[in-house]
Amino acid sequence: MHQALEQSATRPRAARGIDAFGTLSVTRTVVTALDALYILIVAICNVTDHETISWSCGTSSQWIRRTSARPLDRNARQITMGTTTSERENDRLRRFYDKSAADYDLWMRHYDRWMLSDARERLCARAHGQTLEIGLGTGLNLGFYPPSVQLTGLDLSRAMLTIAAQRALDLGREVALRLGDAHALELPDSHFDTVVATLFVSSVPDERRAAAEAWRVLRPGGRLLLLDHVRSPIAPVRWAQRLLNPLMVRFAHNHLLRDPLDYLGSVGFVIEHCARSKWGIIEEVVARKDIPAPLS
Ligand SMILES: C[S@@+](CC[C@H](N)C(=O)[O-])C[C@H]1O[C@@H](n2cnc3c(N)ncnc32)[C@H](O)[C@@H]1O
Repeated sequence: MHQALEQSATRPRAARGIDAFGTLSVTRTVVTALDALYILIVAICNVTDHETISWSCGTSSQWIRRTSARPLDRNARQITMGTTTSERENDRLRRFYDKSAADYDLWMRHYDRWMLSDARERLCARAHGQTLEIGLGTGLNLGFYPPSVQLTGLDLSRAMLTIAAQRALDLGREVALRLGDAHALELPDSHFDTVVATLFVSSVPDERRAAAEAWRVLRPGGRLLLLDHVRSPIAPVRWAQRLLNPLMVRFAHNHLLRDPLDYLGSVGFVIEHCARSKWGIIEEVVARKDIPAPLS
């Protein structure tokens, strides 16, 4: 079941009416719990597996050039070992996703089926015009955009983008792939009609900074489309999330207690639509870049 809520970012949470959520059968509940455990175990195995995976940067980039997808932008910001916390976290995250890329679609097959259902499709159908997807990953959304959308996909991980390039090729979908950091987009102000991020807010080191960058590159009136797992408003579910969170952050770089509704308003977005499902864990948000009122 899916409940849609029209709401404003400035209204208090209790007044937003986030109180009734999809019901799951016992079987689905068990499978969802097992699925979460499975993802955690795969993440732990991944961290403890020191074998090098077969994607080599050289091979990947040569291979990308042969695809019809536009090559990774060589001028995109080089992500280097830095000294700030978010640069160090970026670096850890990039290594994690470079290493996990080959398994990612397999994890997501279960997660998408039980947790997201048709949410990707529904969200991407709202994109129009110049569209930027941040944290593109392996490009699981590529098949869901309307054909008229001019798509740019950005990610920190070259290995994830390499898989996205293959997917774009298979789908015949043109996409400009950029290796870059969503905390500091090397893209012009007010350029995009739509910015999309799915399962990105829960993994990016500094989600507020990434939201501020999304706001900067959107045209006034442009829309930010988000889909993610968030902190549940249902107390027992949230307690379970609190228990699991340290493990998920440590081993899967995945934050269970975030919610973009906490800060989108202060970044300058107006929430146009918010839908919750799966015990309030899955959230879809449509937020508009606010147009400042004309001076009187
Ligand atoms: C959980 S995956 C989601 C991938 C895809 N959006 C999906 O829905 O399947 C998170 C992705 O965000 C990317 N990411 C995290 N932080 C980033 C950053 N600061 N800049 C760019 N990409 C980032 C990761 O490399 C990873 O590919």
